[in-house]
Amino acid sequence: MSAIDLYNAPSPTFADKVAHSLALLQRAVSDYPKLTQASSLGAEDMVVTHLIHMAGIQSGIFVLDTGKLHPETLALVGQIEQRYTRSVEVYRPKNESVAKFVRHHGEEAMYQSMDLRKQCCDIRKMEPLARALAGKDGWITGLRREQSNARAEVADIVQETGAFGARVKISPLVEWTWGDVWHFIAQHRLDYNALHDQFYPSIGCAPCTRAISVGEDFRAGRWWWEDEKAKECGLHVQSIESQRPQAA
Ligand code: ADX
Ligand code: SF4
Repeated sequence: MSAIDLYNAPSPTFADKVAHSLALLQRAVSDYPKLTQASSLGAEDMVVTHLIHMAGIQSGIFVLDTGKLHPETLALVGQIEQRYTRSVEVYRPKNESVAKFVRHHGEEAMYQSMDLRKQCCDIRKMEPLARALAGKDGWITGLRREQSNARAEVADIVQETGAFGARVKISPLVEWTWGDVWHFIAQHRLDYNALHDQFYPSIGCAPCTRAISVGEDFRAGRWWWEDEKAKECGLHVQSIESQRPQAA
């Protein structure tokens, strides 16, 4: 059974959600002209890339290739470039930082402690992310509220200040369900990561991602050895923090 057979189940307001997402992207680009999409090449991000295409807006697209992505994930870079006749920017970590970290802590450091796992994410994702976002007014992500408790209140537009400078984060799918995502993929015959057909709903780096079993949570296969609350690599922590109500 394919992921489309399993998950394609639009919500009653699916058409409204699509219209809302397209309008959000169009509004965002007029306020913030220099936009770029952060694509993990997961199902949500393939939908966002297509929405950007449908909205007819100018936006870059980048992938953080941590050096630990599955081949099934990386295969999508060429498929996007071919379908939309555009290039995908691929940001990689600095060789010397990775080599030093691996020399000191080994290839399996992420399982040893949360501190080492976060150091690995800093080197392989956060530093390249800072380069990808330099000079941009905003970035577009595939975050959805349904993905986790930590994301339950994520807004579709968030002003960020801090580690990456001041810019806006736009998440056109915040209200979409998993069924909506797969309905859109089926409707527009989008390419998608082959691992989604093997019970990998949420896909990150290979050492930190596993398939889930029936009844398990959406993100159960990400950093499964860690506490639920810790399961963020840092990419989105800032925006979750910045939405908390100010203390009185
Ligand atoms: S993560 O923080 O746990 O890794 P997740 O995989 O849910 O994030 O993806 C959430 C959003 O973060 C994606 O929709 C995408 O916008 C961005 N993202 C995550 N991983 C990458 C990546 N490797 N390259 C570019 N963007 C990414
Ligand atoms: Fe390293 Fe895992 Fe973070 Fe990828 S997700 S950067 S392999 S710790």
